[in-house]
Amino acid sequence: MTARSRPDLQTRTFRGTPRNLSRLSQALTRGELVAVPTETVYGLAGDALDVRACRAIFRAKGRPTSDPLIVHIHHLRQLDELAVVNEAALALAKAFWPGPLTIILPKQPIVPDLATAGLPSVAIRMPRHPLFRALLRQSGRPLAAPSANPFGYVSPTSAAHVRAGLGGRIRYILDGGPCRIGLESTIIDLRDPARPEILRPGAIGHAELARVLKRPVQERQRTVSAGHAAVAPGLLTRHYSPRTPVVLHERLESALAADAEMAAEAFVFLARPAKRTGPNVFWLDDRGRLAPAARRLFDLLQRLDTGKWRRIHMELASGEDGLAVAINDRLRRAAAKR
Ligand code: TXA
Ligand code: MG
Repeated sequence: MTARSRPDLQTRTFRGTPRNLSRLSQALTRGELVAVPTETVYGLAGDALDVRACRAIFRAKGRPTSDPLIVHIHHLRQLDELAVVNEAALALAKAFWPGPLTIILPKQPIVPDLATAGLPSVAIRMPRHPLFRALLRQSGRPLAAPSANPFGYVSPTSAAHVRAGLGGRIRYILDGGPCRIGLESTIIDLRDPARPEILRPGAIGHAELARVLKRPVQERQRTVSAGHAAVAPGLLTRHYSPRTPVVLHERLESALAADAEMAAEAFVFLARPAKRTGPNVFWLDDRGRLAPAARRLFDLLQRLDTGKWRRIHMELASGEDGLAVAINDRLRRAAAKR
């Protein structure tokens, strides 16, 4: 039997009191794991420089060791220790850190190969959430933290999601409330500063990045599928997926939701539909605003997934950059064929 099929740890959720923060940062220093709130999604954190802690992260998530981790830092000083820094990276760090941006750079030897899945590069982010920052500061360690979900499933945006996904497999969850952004960070590859490339769209869009870098930023075509080696092995087409089949629509007609045949299927509109309500009709934000929609997306997907819906119909966001692109990226992955 694998560790994955035998969850046996007692999982406790902590509020961010000074006493709990000191206790949890000591656990991190000992090489234990703590699920932590960030402004994007919850992460499963462990000492990035401790191979045992990194191994425990892969094991708890059931994540293949071919999928590298993001290393989180508290201070810009830590960047040089972990990565080979360039001017472009410093400009982005100055503009967007702490915040929802992850930068890929050539790695320094101190970073264990396990953390980077054997790649010569490392992903680094300085998060903004005050409770995660407190743990980073008090533990004094760079913390590797992938999203705190079982591999391939929807990312958690609340402590309750973490418990539902990893309960029994981890000891500590730090509850920092619902995540403010609700989608994973934008990942930019800056190994070659002359050719910046977005590997995963997020709240920070390519226009903003290009403005700071003073050059165009490419968007990686998202055609990587399972089993193929890639720069970012985690950027699998199917990822962030509920178990219920997801069907995407450019425009989700409310007439469809009214069809009696469709009663067993859920319909998720971006904005509240004018004409139609019913037990199978949902929307991400009353007025279809993207920031609240992004914040709510993973929570709604997880709720619908525990319902008995035959399929989940989802409406794509319209827009060419930023949250619209990031939301549609996650929807496409959720809908990708198994
Ligand atoms: O918002 C976020 O980024 C959250 C919070 C917890 O910080 N973290 C997160 O981590 O989403 P994770 O592991 O679920 O996604 C990280 C992605 C993976 O798809 C991985 O393949 C990619 O980053 N990645 C990590 N290191 C890389 C590297 N050296 N080169 C290319 N891609 C890398
Ligand atoms: Mg993830």
